Amino acid sequence: MTSPMLELTGVKKSFGGNHVIPGLDLTLKAHEVTALIGPNGAGKTTIFNLITGFLKPDEGTVVYKGQGLTGLTPENVFRKGMVRTFQEVRVFGGITVLENVLVGREHGFGSWRKTKENKQAAMETLALVGLDGKAHTEARDLSYAEQKFLSLARVLGSDAELLLLDEPTSGLDGRSLDVVTGLIPRLKEMNRTVLIIEHNLDVVRSIAERIVFLESGRVIATGTGDELFARQDLADIYFGGGTVQ
Ligand SMILES: Nc1ncnc2c1ncn2[C@@H]1O[C@H](COP(=O)(O)OP(=O)(O)OP(=O)(O)O)[C@@H](O)[C@H]1O
Ligand SMILES: [Mg+2]
Repeated sequence: MTSPMLELTGVKKSFGGNHVIPGLDLTLKAHEVTALIGPNGAGKTTIFNLITGFLKPDEGTVVYKGQGLTGLTPENVFRKGMVRTFQEVRVFGGITVLENVLVGREHGFGSWRKTKENKQAAMETLALVGLDGKAHTEARDLSYAEQKFLSLARVLGSDAELLLLDEPTSGLDGRSLDVVTGLIPRLKEMNRTVLIIEHNLDVVRSIAERIVFLESGRVIATGTGDELFARQDLADIYFGGGTVQ
């Protein structure tokens, strides 16, 4: 049996007396798209922070491709081969779209290299999200949707195998939503594994091979869309008494 891509075991995190993650086990298989869903405040972003070194677990272990990540800085976690996006848009406004992707590839201005190969790879990545025509535009001049695309291009432009995407479709609709939902299923062909936090359940249904349902920091259900969307108890939790459409 191949070892999992990512394995969280007994991970706990409290803020003061608030036990946000009271004990979490989570396993990701390579080349799978897993959606992490759950109500606001369930602890989804906190889990990303715990995986990527932005927060340190109080207890438990995070193991990536057989290597423990406990105690590593976000920079060193990135060097192991995983990268994340943030719930709020974070791009470097004062440099160009192309330069933003190059920074994502090299992770840090210090080692930022504008080699021909890097530039070509960055342009190919921009083409994936339809931003190649704006490569030389300053990122601050992009629309909100384009900045979301650029955030995605920055993580795709890195060589990271594991991509953690925190609500990449938030605030998007119509064609801009289609850009993201069309791209995510293709990432596994590019040797990527994806964990995506997503509130839009139509998106979840169309892209996720496996769904992890989180409530109050606990995994209360795991399965395919067909399995989970049929469950009224989960709909009640998700919508606070509503129903799945
Ligand atoms: N650094 C922090 N200090 C104190 N409390 C925090 C911190 N980070 C998160 N929390 C708390 O942990 C809980 C979970 O927050 P988190 O952001 O992980 O939820 P979420 O599932 O991502 O929600 P949303 O869907 O709204 O983005 C919330 O009650 C939040 O206030
Ligand atoms: Mg969040």
